Amino acid sequence: MCGIVGYIGKQTAIPILVEGLKKLEYRGYDSAGVAVLDQDGIFVCKSVGKLVALEDKLGDEYPSTSMGIGHTRWATHGRPSDLNAHPHSDCAGDFAVVHNGIIENYMELREWLVEQGHRLVSETDTEVLPHLVEHFYQGDLVTAVRKVLGKIRGAFAMVVLSRSDPDKLVAVRQDSPLVVGLGDGEFFVASDIPAILNHTRKTYILADGEMVILTRNRAEVTDFQGNPLEKDVFEVKWDAVAAEKGGYEHFMLKEIHEQPRAIRDTLLGRLSEYGVELQEVDLTAEEVNHFRKVFIVACGTAWHAGLVGKSLIERWARIPVEVDIASEFRYRSPLIDQETLVVVISQSGETADTLAALREAKRLGAHVVAVTNVVGSSVSREAHDVIYTWAGPEIAVASTKAYTTQLVGMVLFGLYLAQAKGTLSLEKIQAIVTALKELPGQAQEVLHRAAVIEKLAKSFVKVEDTFFIGRGLDWAVAMEGSLKLKEISYIHAEAYAAGELKHGTLALITEETPVIGIATQMDVYEKTLSNIKEVKARDAKVIGIAFEGNNDIHKSVDEVIYLPKTVSELAPILTVIPLQLLAYYASVARGCDVDKPRNLAKSVTVE
Ligand code: G6P
Repeated sequence: MCGIVGYIGKQTAIPILVEGLKKLEYRGYDSAGVAVLDQDGIFVCKSVGKLVALEDKLGDEYPSTSMGIGHTRWATHGRPSDLNAHPHSDCAGDFAVVHNGIIENYMELREWLVEQGHRLVSETDTEVLPHLVEHFYQGDLVTAVRKVLGKIRGAFAMVVLSRSDPDKLVAVRQDSPLVVGLGDGEFFVASDIPAILNHTRKTYILADGEMVILTRNRAEVTDFQGNPLEKDVFEVKWDAVAAEKGGYEHFMLKEIHEQPRAIRDTLLGRLSEYGVELQEVDLTAEEVNHFRKVFIVACGTAWHAGLVGKSLIERWARIPVEVDIASEFRYRSPLIDQETLVVVISQSGETADTLAALREAKRLGAHVVAVTNVVGSSVSREAHDVIYTWAGPEIAVASTKAYTTQLVGMVLFGLYLAQAKGTLSLEKIQAIVTALKELPGQAQEVLHRAAVIEKLAKSFVKVEDTFFIGRGLDWAVAMEGSLKLKEISYIHAEAYAAGELKHGTLALITEETPVIGIATQMDVYEKTLSNIKEVKARDAKVIGIAFEGNNDIHKSVDEVIYLPKTVSELAPILTVIPLQLLAYYASVARGCDVDKPRNLAKSVTVE
């Protein structure tokens, strides 16, 4: 995710930049840096670790010049280190760049730059940017940046500082947020409004494909071709804390709403017309064919993502999969050898039990692939291969966007294995790839139903027990839905395989027990509907979740939340969103502490 900030005006830049970065630390906090124009050139200071490490390094002896850029990083390409921290510079140190997003074609650009004689020193995708500016610069920074825009692909917001243009900052936005703050003889640019709120409340938000050229006198907005654009200035009314949550009441709600972006980022650069490309996984087809068994090991929500992963890998790649809770795994003498593939899933990459399971699997000779959200985390360092989920930092204890991106990670890896084994037709792979591309927009559509779900959640204020039922992948999502509700609203919830209810649990169903019936798996749709009717016959109030078009479900339930239709295997990625919203609004209605539920921690680093 990363946070970026830029300042041009009359005050000393560095304290303003650092203060702005503090407000953006929720976007990333593994390293930070600033660059300001000094008499002798560009002064750059950066440090791995939280912002305090940068502050310590800066001390009191920094240039007092009044223009600069800053960055707080959430590593994507390259682990957290001083060298990989932003700002990045060109060979001559004439330009400095801060960037948020992913430059998709950075590998080919990097090779091309090296051929041109450039020396790149970091592992980041960002570093190609200052070198490209250097390459194209012929006396005018804006023209050079425009030429760079013609070369790069991906999602980016960046701010560029040039030694030769001492009164100008150039910032651009494509699929990563950027706001401009208008002060009195000073201008600010940042990833988010909290970074500028202490200085001005007058702002506008850059749209994709827009560029702003900031001088001390004016802020000029153009499109990437240079055509001038008018922006409507608005006055921010939120306080700083609300602004950090992007205007949402809680981080959890903000993170739920970030899912279309997080899913899109996790897919970025990994799909082609022939299927999936996972450059980060270094397995030959021969090695994949060598695996006789897969274990997926994780805790909590990540374990639920593993349950979906099992189904996908078995269905697509035809390899038997076991899913283990990490704290159980190593104490049950798992049957692991060199023909075993172990997949560990962990948002934080630091969960003690997951890490211990990873180490045990390695010790027994397994090949370990990690699916994690944190670059440089212990899990990412110790696994043989890593598939990153580009969800960005997750602050709320209850995991939301990490789960949906873990599901995307499992879909990608399932397809990767199937491609290597030749177990899926190209036609089927292409159908899934097409469906994957539609997912971010469909997730957005589901979010548009938030108001309906909020209304439903109000009826949960006095509820003591509830059930989530489904079959196949719907059962796996039911587990995540019930966990969300338990975690943050403290309502007892159980997830049940819909066909298993009649073997005991049906005895617990009364009119006091709402049931969430999930019916998106078309091969068992009729059967699930029968199970829903069974609970309805016991007077339960039933909320159904089904694809648009399956209108017959409404006859068997009290309310239905319809989802845009996708292929059955991808349904969990959409189905979980109304369940997250239901848990969120139930928690709010019951007056619970949504972001910090009692007794729970975001990252559990003890056994
Ligand atoms: C804690 C969190 C959960 C999370 C689990 C695993 O219990 O509260 O939200 O799913 O740890 O965390 P990990 O970082 O390994 O995914």
